[in-house]
Amino acid sequence: MTIEQLLAARGYPPILRTEDGAPVTRGTWSARRAELRRLLERYSYGSTPDGPVRVSGRTLGEAAVCGGLAVLRRTELTLETEKGAVSFPIEIYSPRAVQRPPVLLHLAFRPVPDRYIPLEAILRAGYALVVAVYTDMMNDGHTGDFSNGIASLFGVGVPRHPDEWGKIGMWAYGASRVLDYLFSDCPGLDAARTAVVGHSRLGKTALWCAALDERFAAAVSNDSGYGGAASSRRGTGERVEDFIRCGSWDWFCERFKDFGGAAEDRKPYDQSFLLAMIAPRPLFVSSASEDAAADPLAEFLTTVHASAAWELLGRPGLILPDGRGGEPPRPGDELIAGNVGYHLRAGRHALMPEDWAACLRFLDLRFGRRSCPAP
Ligand code: GCU
Repeated sequence: MTIEQLLAARGYPPILRTEDGAPVTRGTWSARRAELRRLLERYSYGSTPDGPVRVSGRTLGEAAVCGGLAVLRRTELTLETEKGAVSFPIEIYSPRAVQRPPVLLHLAFRPVPDRYIPLEAILRAGYALVVAVYTDMMNDGHTGDFSNGIASLFGVGVPRHPDEWGKIGMWAYGASRVLDYLFSDCPGLDAARTAVVGHSRLGKTALWCAALDERFAAAVSNDSGYGGAASSRRGTGERVEDFIRCGSWDWFCERFKDFGGAAEDRKPYDQSFLLAMIAPRPLFVSSASEDAAADPLAEFLTTVHASAAWELLGRPGLILPDGRGGEPPRPGDELIAGNVGYHLRAGRHALMPEDWAACLRFLDLRFGRRSCPAP
C-alpha cells in the first residue's frame, strides 16, 4: 500500500480543522494549537500545574572526561513550591572545543556510562549533553504512587481527579525545570538551541515536553510508540489495555482508561496532534523495524499527517524521497531534509548509536551547523 492509502485506512482526525469543523488558517493556528493541547491534557496526559516554582542548582563537582574532550559538571537541582521541595542530580557535559554549544537534554533511564548514551560521539559532534535520570525526578513503580518526587510539589489527589497529570507530564515538567536552569545559570551553553531527547516512555515524555514548552528548540523521540509518536487508531501496536495490565496507566491521566477496547479507535484526540503542537520547530522521530509494540509504521504515518501543521506555518514538514512510488520507508532510510525528520533503523526496541547519529545529522541541518544533507 502507498502512504496515502495507509493514511486513508487509518483515518487520523484532521489537524487543520477545528473541533467545530472550521478550516484552520495561519491566523487561527494558535487557537487550534490550544484546542489540541486541551484535548491531549483532558484525555491523555492530564494538566500540568502552572503554579510558581523556584529552581536552584548546586554544583557538586567538576571533572575532565573523555581524555579532556569535555568538562563534566555534576549539579543538584532543587525545585521548590509552596507545597514542597524536590532535589535531583543532573550531569552537564560540555565539549571544550565548542563555544556555546547547542544542547541535547537527554531524559535517561540510567546515568552515564550507559549503553544508550554514546557520550564521546555526542561530544565529538560538538553538542553539550545534559543527562537527567527520569526516576530521580519521579518514581516509575507502575503502581500509581504519586506520593513523592515532582508530584509532591503540587500534591496529587487520592484518588486522582480526572484532570490531574500523570507521570509523563511530571517527567516533562522536570525537563522544563532543567531548561530553566540552563537558561539562568549556564551561560557557556546555548540553551536557546536545546533539543529534548528521549527513548521509549521517555520519547513520549520528550514529545509532550516540547509540545508544552516552546522554549525547547527541537524534539527527538526514539521508539516512542503509544502515547508518543504512534497513533493507536487502527494501529498494530500497544493499546490502552496493555498499559492497564502492566500498571503503566499511571503515566497518563485517569480518563486515559476510558478508551479501552473498541473505544480506542474513536478517541477524540490523536498522537498526530501531539506532533503538530511542536510545529514549526524541528522534530525528529526514529523507529526500529522490529519494534512491533511501538508500531513503527504508525510512528511514520503520524509524522506525515502532522506535517500539515509545519506546512501551514510556511516550513516544509517531512520530505519524502523521490522515485519511491509513495511507499513507506525501508530500514536504513533517513529522511532529514525537512523540519520533520524520520529514521527507520533495522532491529529492535533500543536507543542505538545509529539513532543518535541520524538525529545529530538532522539537528546539524536544522541548527544551521551544516548545509547539505548527509549522503
Ligand atoms: C513498555 C511500555 C512502552 C514503553 C516501554 C519503554 O514496554 O509498554 O509503551 O515505550 O515500556 O519505555 O521501554
